[in-house]
Amino acid sequence: MNNLYGKIIGYHVEKNKVVIDYEQISAIVEAITPEIINVFLPLGGERKPSHAIEEEKRVAVELAVEKDAEDLLIATDQLQIKVGTNFKVDFYTKDGQVICRDYRGERAPFVRRGSAHLMEEEGHKAIETIQGNRVEVLKEIIGDEYFYGLGENTGHLNKRGYQYQMWNTDDPSPHVESYEKLYKSIPFLLTLRKNMAYGLFFDNSYHSYFNLGKENERYLYYGAKDGNLNYYFIYGPTVKQVLAGYAYLTGTTPLPQRWALGYQQSRHSYDSWQRVMEVAKTFRAKQIPCDVIHLDIEYMDDYRVFTWNQERFADFEAGVAKLKEMGFKVVTIIDPGVKKEKGYFVYDEGLEQGFYLLDKDGIPYVNRVWPGDVVYPDFSNSKARRWWGGKHRRLTEQGVAGIWNDMNEPAGFDGPIPDDVVFANDGYPSVHAEMHNVYGHLMSKATYEGLSALTGKRPFVITRACFAGTQKYSSVWTGDNCSHWEHLRMAVPMLLNLSLSGLSFCGTDVGGFSYDCNGELMARWIQLGIFSPLFRNHSNMHTRDQEPWAFGAEVEAICRKYINLRYQLLPYLYDLMWQGEKNGLPVLRPLFLDYQDDAETYELNDQFMVGAHLLVAPVLQQGQRRRVVYLPAGEWFDYWTGEKYRGEQPIIRETPLAVCPIYMKAGSIIPNYQAQNYVGEKDQSDLILDVYPGEGCYTHYQDDGETFKYRDGEFNLYRFMQRLAGDKLLLELEKTTAGYERSYENFMLKINGMEAAAVRADGKEITFSQDNGRVLVKIPAATKLVEVIEK
Ligand code: GLC
Repeated sequence: MNNLYGKIIGYHVEKNKVVIDYEQISAIVEAITPEIINVFLPLGGERKPSHAIEEEKRVAVELAVEKDAEDLLIATDQLQIKVGTNFKVDFYTKDGQVICRDYRGERAPFVRRGSAHLMEEEGHKAIETIQGNRVEVLKEIIGDEYFYGLGENTGHLNKRGYQYQMWNTDDPSPHVESYEKLYKSIPFLLTLRKNMAYGLFFDNSYHSYFNLGKENERYLYYGAKDGNLNYYFIYGPTVKQVLAGYAYLTGTTPLPQRWALGYQQSRHSYDSWQRVMEVAKTFRAKQIPCDVIHLDIEYMDDYRVFTWNQERFADFEAGVAKLKEMGFKVVTIIDPGVKKEKGYFVYDEGLEQGFYLLDKDGIPYVNRVWPGDVVYPDFSNSKARRWWGGKHRRLTEQGVAGIWNDMNEPAGFDGPIPDDVVFANDGYPSVHAEMHNVYGHLMSKATYEGLSALTGKRPFVITRACFAGTQKYSSVWTGDNCSHWEHLRMAVPMLLNLSLSGLSFCGTDVGGFSYDCNGELMARWIQLGIFSPLFRNHSNMHTRDQEPWAFGAEVEAICRKYINLRYQLLPYLYDLMWQGEKNGLPVLRPLFLDYQDDAETYELNDQFMVGAHLLVAPVLQQGQRRRVVYLPAGEWFDYWTGEKYRGEQPIIRETPLAVCPIYMKAGSIIPNYQAQNYVGEKDQSDLILDVYPGEGCYTHYQDDGETFKYRDGEFNLYRFMQRLAGDKLLLELEKTTAGYERSYENFMLKINGMEAAAVRADGKEITFSQDNGRVLVKIPAATKLVEVIEK
């Protein structure tokens, strides 16, 4: 593309906005906040409302604008922005340090010798040299930069040297490192270098590219086939500030119902109530906790959405009710494709109201999915969204608790949907080329809003396709992975980059979807799975059984142990989700989120933090019986042995099949539940506090676990503080907010790595027990101060 917009010939300021007139075009640089700058050039016509940034975002920002001979200098109280000839835009800190600069040199793709054609004859794929992007921005790669984010991609944590495409794609062949696109498009890039982090959010939904030094290591570029040049620069300098900025624009994941954090069992497909009941009973008989059973496409009547099979799932409501009595929730799949069949109520209603996508001649566009010929709802039409949302009443009335949205890239067995298929887009008519990447996003929005209105509870939605901002409506899973060790390995960087891209409520198909899992792989995948916010075991038809008991006694025991650990940790995960709704920080975190100055953490592909307190180093290789674990600054307790290590060093941990290395940071107080088979089985009025002595403060959150009442203040907050003073550990406990009627009766303290001579609660000596290097003591929840005197 040619970047020749010419010289700046004039400008004017309108509140936060600087409108810059070039010889050829007018551009806009707008301060959304002092740290977030929108850069806009109308290359694709009118500016339509963004699907990612749905609310008016803007605070009043004081701008200082000055013009020198060539350039315009714009300053907020955090940044200086230099805008030059041909709309080159550079960002500096307020004291003049360069943050991010447009690349001004020549494009110089690496030389590729030999014949691409001959190579393709044999079936190899040639690499495109320069994409034909209408919209493109090139930025300098400055020194030692690391790149993260971009949603769901294969490969490693650091994306430098790779190219990714934003074009939601259902490609079930085994996902490998060289894949450039999958089901989700999150055009948000996080850049980290020494003392500096910043983000770039490219808010363009057309097919786009991020090339991160793959064309040439001197520059990166992002570009789209069409649309406007429209990106947001988000300044840190900390990674946390960048994520907060991105969350400010695109929103955060709302707190889910508590059960949605439980273990979920799925299968393509449990095809009758008889099989579902067998599975449900086995969970309870074997005392393996489980909260959710998913019904995949076979529950439907010939794959017609919003129906169920009258024979295999006869008396649907009674089946759901029976499961409910056993403590299970039912989640059903809903795909977007509506069977094209006169007389089928969904098809007829949508047709009558004009709610389907139209081909260029104005006729409902038809492709083929599970039910045969289908039409596709136009989720960009808010009336169609409301209609679709309302259709879920048929399922919620039967007791269905959540909805799984799939095939919403959208997928079609007869090949891709043509670019010119028409979307209504609420008064901004658009074509598929622009709307493809937001289709899944808008479908999840329809589902979320429908469930919210129908149930009054926090909706539980899972989606496969999405765009930036979908975190407001849905959890995500990484689609059709395989029961391959390579896919277990890849799950860590994939989930971490999704988490950095706003999608905190994420998970993989535990055990792998396609191919047969085996016992060892299952044990290792469960050990990882218990830490992902969405914890669902799912597998394809014709693969061997994949329930936790399908691999023999040893693996079953390991699954039970780790799923139980997940249930113990539920209040900690729930606290993290609650915090995430407020601050945009994910549950799963690469280590550099909390240890940004430690370069050792920048490319750790096989370790992660769960919140700020818990470090996990899963085993991701077949037969691996010991592994290196890098511990960052601080002191760390081995969760299993209680041994204490100093940080900023690698250590070696033995990893027999039953051990997933977990480390707790000294100073942590982790709330735990007592064992239960499902959320709500026990009232949990005695909260366990798992204490790792040191200096620290923790805020614990409590509410009804289901409704939106927390938004009206119906919640409690507890502050737990600890510090070491001579031979004493002092614990201060305080209920700082009391808005929810239920409260805890007792706290059960589990103080690790200590032997006590005495324990005092509010000055009075109390009884305690000593177990395996731990002090155990039960105190009334009203206790203010606990002193543990070391032996
Ligand atoms: C797709 C989904 C998978 C599901 C299957 C049948 O392949 O990704 O999870 O089981 O469709 O609905």
